[in-house]
Amino acid sequence: MHPDCERILLTEEEIHLKVKELAAQISRDYSDRELLVVGILKGSVIFLADLVRNITVPTRFDFMAVSSYGASSKSSGVVRILKDLNQGIEGRHILIVEDIVDTGLTLSYLVDNLKTRGPVSIKVCTLLDKPSRRMVDVAVHYNGFQIEDHFVVGYGLDYNERYRNLPCIMVLSPNVYKGGKKA
Ligand code: PRP
Repeated sequence: MHPDCERILLTEEEIHLKVKELAAQISRDYSDRELLVVGILKGSVIFLADLVRNITVPTRFDFMAVSSYGASSKSSGVVRILKDLNQGIEGRHILIVEDIVDTGLTLSYLVDNLKTRGPVSIKVCTLLDKPSRRMVDVAVHYNGFQIEDHFVVGYGLDYNERYRNLPCIMVLSPNVYKGGKKA
């Protein structure tokens, strides 16, 4: 256990079982199609790396990086693209991969933005979901774990860019983030 964390929320084993389950479901659903997995940097990287290695249909992947505009932007839902996809998505089946859906504002923006580019389909896969924090309704098709509103880190999730490399998901001790940002 990391000294900055108060407890383990999801163990490596629980995560890996869930990743296999999600990948099996995705592989069944896309059995006769090719998938373009779109990872949202940086939190999704570890999850995406494990997920795509368990998907059995032909799969490409690409990344986007987004950032919200300052403090008020979370509630306005205005998102800035810092890194766009390297390829067009017209005619493709898109699977957006996130580490966590919180207010849903990032995802809602991304889905709307990608829809304008002419894909055949867009679905969303997230490892974690905090439904109690949702501000906009956004469809999540593959959902690993619904969690309470804990400040969680590890397996890609950070606090001030730290803890992403922890192999499991932990609840951060409040004294670490007092006055800080959300996980
Ligand atoms: C996190 C997460 C989602 C977003 C979810 O990213 O990876 O992209 O926040 O929050 P929302 O549902 O309230 O919009 P973050 O901005 O922390 O960047 P990171 O992935 O680089 O850690």
